[in-house]
Formats: sequence, C-alpha cells, structure tokens
Amino acid sequence: MIPEAKIDEALAALFGQLEFTAQPAGLYDPLRYMIAIGGKRLRPRLALLTYSLYQDVFTDAILQPAAALEVFHNYTLIHDDVMDRSDLRRGVPTVWKKWDLNTAILSGDAMFVDSFRRMSALPQQVMREGLEMFCNTAAQVMEGQQYDMEFETRGDVTRAQYMEMIGLKTGVLLACASKLGALVGGASQHDCDSLYEYGYNLGLAFQVTDDYLDEYGDEQVFGKPIGGDIVNGKQNWLAVHAREKADPAQREALERAFALPVDTPEQRKAKIDAVMALYAALGIEEDAKYEILRLNEKALEFASAACSGIRLESLRRFAEKLVGRSR
Ligand code: IPE
Ligand code: IPE
Ligand code: MG
Ligand code: MG
Ligand code: MG
Repeated sequence: MIPEAKIDEALAALFGQLEFTAQPAGLYDPLRYMIAIGGKRLRPRLALLTYSLYQDVFTDAILQPAAALEVFHNYTLIHDDVMDRSDLRRGVPTVWKKWDLNTAILSGDAMFVDSFRRMSALPQQVMREGLEMFCNTAAQVMEGQQYDMEFETRGDVTRAQYMEMIGLKTGVLLACASKLGALVGGASQHDCDSLYEYGYNLGLAFQVTDDYLDEYGDEQVFGKPIGGDIVNGKQNWLAVHAREKADPAQREALERAFALPVDTPEQRKAKIDAVMALYAALGIEEDAKYEILRLNEKALEFASAACSGIRLESLRRFAEKLVGRSR
C-alpha cells in the first residue's frame, strides 16, 4: 500500500509538469489555463488511491492514465460552461468568457484528444479493458450532458430520472477512475467491480453535493456563482426534489418562481430569493444533506466488499472529504 502523503506528492508532481503542445498557442493555451487554475483533482486522486491499495510504487502505467482522467474532466468542463452559460469556474473566468465560443469548442476538442493519448499509456495487459471502459465512460458522460440539457425545458423530471442523468454525467467518470486504479494495480475482477460501484455512488453523492453547494455554498470558496442553477434554469437535485415534495399550491408557487425573469442583477437576486424561500419552507436543504449521506453510505458498502482494515479506512476518508466539502 502507498501512504496518502505519497499520493499528494505524486499529484503535485504530475500536474506541475503536465505539458501540452506549444503551437498554435490560441488552441493550446486554454488547456494550460484549465490545468493551471487547478481544481480538486479528484478523479486522478481516486485512481491513484485505488491503485495504491494493490501496489507499492507509482509508475507511468497509472500516472498517465490518471492524468488522462483529469484532462478529460477538464474538457467536459470547458464545453459544460458553454452549455450552462457559466461565467465563472474555480473563481476565474470560464474559457468561453475569457476567449470566445469557438475557442471553447476547439480547445475542448483538443483536450478530449489529449486525454485519449494519455490513456494509451495503459500497460499492455489491461489496455483493452481500460480503453474500452474509458470510451464507454466518455460516451455516457455525453449522454448525461444531453439529458441534462433536455431536462432544462421540462418540469416533470422525476427523481429517478434525475439520478440516472447524474449517474451518466458525473457518476461514471468517478466509477471509471476508481476501477481504473484497481485494474492497473492488478486487483481481481470482483474488487474491480466493487470499486466501480463505490466510485459510481460517490459520484452521485458528489453531484448532489455540487447541486447543494450551488444554492447553499459560499461563492468565494465554491468558485462558482451561488444560485447559478436557478438563474440559468438548470434542473438540479433540489429543484427536482422540491417539485416532487410540494403540495399543489406550493408547486404553483415554485413554477411561478422558476419562471421569473433574469435580465438584470436585481431580477436574478429576486428569482434566487423566491426559489430559496420555497426550498426553506419545504425543508429541501435538510433533505439534500440526508441524501448525500445515504449515497455515501451506499458507496462505502461497496468499498467494504473490496477491502478492509486500513485500506477500507483510506476509502472511507476519501468519501468523507467529498461529502463534507465546501468547494
Ligand atoms: C465539477 O467537478 C463538475 C461536476 C461534476 C459537479 P469538480 O467539482 O470536481 O471540479 P474541479 O475540477 O474540482 O474544479
Ligand atoms: C457538470 O455538472 C457535469 C459535467 C461537466 C460532465 P454541472 O454543470 O452541475 O457542473 P458545474 O456546476 O458546472 O461544475
Ligand atoms: Mg452542466
Ligand atoms: Mg455547469
Ligand atoms: Mg453544478
């Protein structure tokens, strides 16, 4: 097993020296920008963590695929910020805001390709399975993002449909990261499958937390504008759950609030306040916290099917950090 401090060191070294092609700078600078502005590096951290359960040293066989996961994630963010009309990420302007729309499209594409190049560093014996999983994951993320967009114009999305959508847009990439580390580490099929489910459920908990922080977070820490999902008409766990929980009168009030205009800063604030007042009356904040804990527990059940003792403890600590996060 590899100690947690070594994972920190490996991540710092990996992302401190990640290189992208120099020219044309207009194409590759946004890639450097996305990696330089940081982020939590959760997906590569998870891959290194599950790998560390089975091996004693990090080599490029896991470091490059771990980097691939982060590069792929950042590609999805560049495009997601266009689709979600988001101006701010990690406390700084998004790529389409800082450059323009065409840059976001093409630099995102370049980042997508770069992630597959890095994934091809997988060792021969797991190349086929690893690459196939990565391809399936990438396709599923896009399916999730498509459902996410389609949900924007629907008021009848059920919680089950919502969970399926976030499983695709967010869950599968954490699942892939979790299994990939185990796969390269030489884990059994059974462990690989359990760790996939661990990552998937963590991913669900993670997205519900993201939805929660979108409304109840601190902008300075979260790095994204609070109330962004409400202003941009995005479905999130809070909105879907509120619609399901509301009685007919509350439901009508919710629909009126969701339909408020957002053309001026005053209107945006009024809309956020109106929706949040209804969430408060419905007890949505507490329900979200409970749901996050429930999903986290489920993740840990799968973790305990794969390992025990200090190994399980390390997976528990990782999950705990995700659930208790404020950014
Ligand atoms: C943001 O992911 C997108 C979601 C899946 C909610 P992260 O919260 O992991 O983003 P960074 O990379 O740490 O900024
Ligand atoms: C992002 O979900 C999921 C992917 C990028 C695949 P969100 O749209 O909620 O993420 P943020 O809030 O913009 O980070
Ligand atoms: Mg989105
Ligand atoms: Mg978004
Ligand atoms: Mg969000």
